Amino acid sequence: MYAWRLHASLPKTAQPTGDKVWADVLKWEKVDPPPLPSGYVRVKLRSSALNRRDLWIGLGLYPGIRYPAILGSDGCGEVVEVNHESASKWKGQRVLLNPSLNWGNDERVQSDSYEILGMPSWGTFAEFVDIPVSNLHPVPEHLSDTEAAAVPLAGLTAYRATFTQGHLQSGEKVLIPGIGGGVAVWVLQLAVAAGAEVWVTSSSPHKLEKAQQLGAAGGILYTQADWTTELSRRAGSFHLIVDGVGGEFFPLYQQLIAPGGRIVVYGATRGNPPTLDLRRLFWKQVYIIGSTMGSPSDFHALLRFIQEKKIKPFVETTLPLSALPEALTQLWRGTQIGKIVLNH
Ligand SMILES: NC(=O)c1ccc[n+]([C@@H]2O[C@H](COP(=O)([O-])OP(=O)(O)OC[C@H]3O[C@@H](n4cnc5c(N)ncnc54)[C@H](OP(=O)(O)O)[C@@H]3O)[C@@H](O)[C@H]2O)c1
Repeated sequence: MYAWRLHASLPKTAQPTGDKVWADVLKWEKVDPPPLPSGYVRVKLRSSALNRRDLWIGLGLYPGIRYPAILGSDGCGEVVEVNHESASKWKGQRVLLNPSLNWGNDERVQSDSYEILGMPSWGTFAEFVDIPVSNLHPVPEHLSDTEAAAVPLAGLTAYRATFTQGHLQSGEKVLIPGIGGGVAVWVLQLAVAAGAEVWVTSSSPHKLEKAQQLGAAGGILYTQADWTTELSRRAGSFHLIVDGVGGEFFPLYQQLIAPGGRIVVYGATRGNPPTLDLRRLFWKQVYIIGSTMGSPSDFHALLRFIQEKKIKPFVETTLPLSALPEALTQLWRGTQIGKIVLNH
């Protein structure tokens, strides 16, 4: 089969100037797949999608990178090979892949052997991928292949952060910082469908507008001076903040959160917060809760919720698989909102 293989990370001085920047490290080449392991099926991919993780790995900013790597955690395709009678019902089926591998038996936290599909295991920026039978799911019928590929990693992370860890209830007020992120848009769509009042922040008026089209009650530019005061004036305080940004704005959430509110953290695009006001934290009885990816039950619940509410993921850019380098550069520039999907 053919796959995109990453042979090294980009040099630290590299800039997102174009797709050629990837030419020395990322190559479309022939790979001999190992025999199908027991309990696995082989899927011919129809669509895959990018996540910030693929870019972090390409830039050498991810723990435990092993080269050569076939990246890609999101995929939708058709099962073409099974090696066990019990898996034969999947042959020929259109499937969605749960990228959480080896979660384990504890709903509260993943096991020590937990991995995400696409490094170290071979991922979905390829013609085929091998995946455990237990990670296969039928595609919700109202989704095209392109839409389905935009569901797994970001949808799962958003579902767990919003519901399993964030305990969102209908009628609550939610803040989502940095709506340009792939997970952030998913949190918006899920929270709106659950009957919450959702507010967002962004550096881009275009993204605020898109968020409102997706059901946000309002939004504010975090690049404007004193945006927290203006946001409080317009929206009041928040029962839940679902954050993947962190960094210098994280301490401000302690002003914006309602007494007894929850701040769920699933990422730290801007790094660690410089300070934390512990007195305000304990006085307001605030919960700070971590969240990563999701368990098999979270994935089932996500698909049930998508099916029930007929949610379609917001895909802004669709490219052919051959344009992976261009797609990575687009993600790096950060101008997009919603998912970038590759059609195979
Ligand atoms: N724990 C997990 O399971 C898990 C899963 C997926 C992702 N993650 C992590 O979560 C983070 C988000 O990932 P992603 O792929 O969804 O999104 P992403 O592509 O990393 O999105 C980054 C967004 O952050 C926003 N941003 C940057 N600086 C900001 C600031 N000072 N204040 C507010 N927003 C700011 C920008 O929003 P605007 O463009 O709107 O300004 C940007 O679009 C990453 O760090 C990723 O590694 C974790």
